[in-house]
Amino acid sequence: MADAPLMAGKSVLVTGGTGGIGRATAIGLAALGARVGITGRDQARTVAAVAGIRAATGNAAVDAFAADMSAQAGVRGLAAQVAGTYPRLDVLVNNVGGFWAHRHVTADGLERTFALNHLAPFLLTNLLLGRLTASAPARVVTVSSGAQASGRINFEDLQGGRNYSGQRAYSQSKLANVMFTYELARRLDGTGVTATVLHPGVVRTSFGAEDQAAYFAVMSRVARLFMKTPAQGAVTSIYLASSPEVEGITGRYFANRKPKTASKAAYDTAAAARLWQASAGLAGLTATT
Ligand SMILES: NC(=O)c1ccc[n+]([C@@H]2O[C@H](COP(=O)([O-])OP(=O)(O)OC[C@H]3O[C@@H](n4cnc5c(N)ncnc54)[C@H](OP(=O)(O)O)[C@@H]3O)[C@@H](O)[C@H]2O)c1
Repeated sequence: MADAPLMAGKSVLVTGGTGGIGRATAIGLAALGARVGITGRDQARTVAAVAGIRAATGNAAVDAFAADMSAQAGVRGLAAQVAGTYPRLDVLVNNVGGFWAHRHVTADGLERTFALNHLAPFLLTNLLLGRLTASAPARVVTVSSGAQASGRINFEDLQGGRNYSGQRAYSQSKLANVMFTYELARRLDGTGVTATVLHPGVVRTSFGAEDQAAYFAVMSRVARLFMKTPAQGAVTSIYLASSPEVEGITGRYFANRKPKTASKAAYDTAAAARLWQASAGLAGLTATT
């Protein structure tokens, strides 16, 4: 008798699964037999992506969750929907993220890069922690970027209100992804829930297209030819979400399926604790929510 697929019986949520790296991650995990939920902002686009993932993998157990994750009400609604749909949650892939050349403000009055790239995964993970812990061994996988290396957490101006730069806001948010993961791993020690974070590579997606920086606009078609495909960019996310090789591995940063040293700033435990407290305050997270 053939072995059961690696992820048979497991439920996974991939945020930002309608396109790019997230869609490729969802395809990879659905092909391994997981029940996969994907999120996107628009109901019709998310449902269409689900149909595509089902067709590509032959796995009918793919679900659509529509939510604008830049708004905290959207994240809270999403968490409630997922908890109501999935009796167990084995893997959460925090993939959603974006880049904006100009400063935008969310429904909560927060700068969008910080809100979507950092606060959304922070809040969603915290809201789903009970379900993940009850499903242990479980995994939280967060998609950061090589840009974390040039990131700096500006505690005096987390929202870039004084002097916004798209690159600075993006790098800060991606460093925050790493610091969040390391702090989460410390907090989850002994629970059987692991937290890892990754750089997917430079990948040919719609990334940054909503509000392009000049350097995106001039990026030649030739340069795009040398970028990873979304399937290649999803390899490390799929590996961390599914491979027995990383069972129990926590608090590590990966690229190309290998552990790497992150930015020195990511190992500052006092700063990580401070960022956690600031994020909990901004996300309205109390011990009971
Ligand atoms: N591409 C790269 O070279 C690269 C490099 C390093 C790191 N990364 C990271 O990889 C992750 C995925 O990036 P990507 O390149 O695949 O981006 P992408 O092609 O722009 O895809 C972004 C995904 O997020 C969803 N999304 C965007 N805004 C949202 C919102 N407000 N609420 C809910 N969903 C939203 C989009 O869905 P809808 O549009 O359907 O809502 C889409 O599914 C990001 O965290 C990014 O920082 C990418």
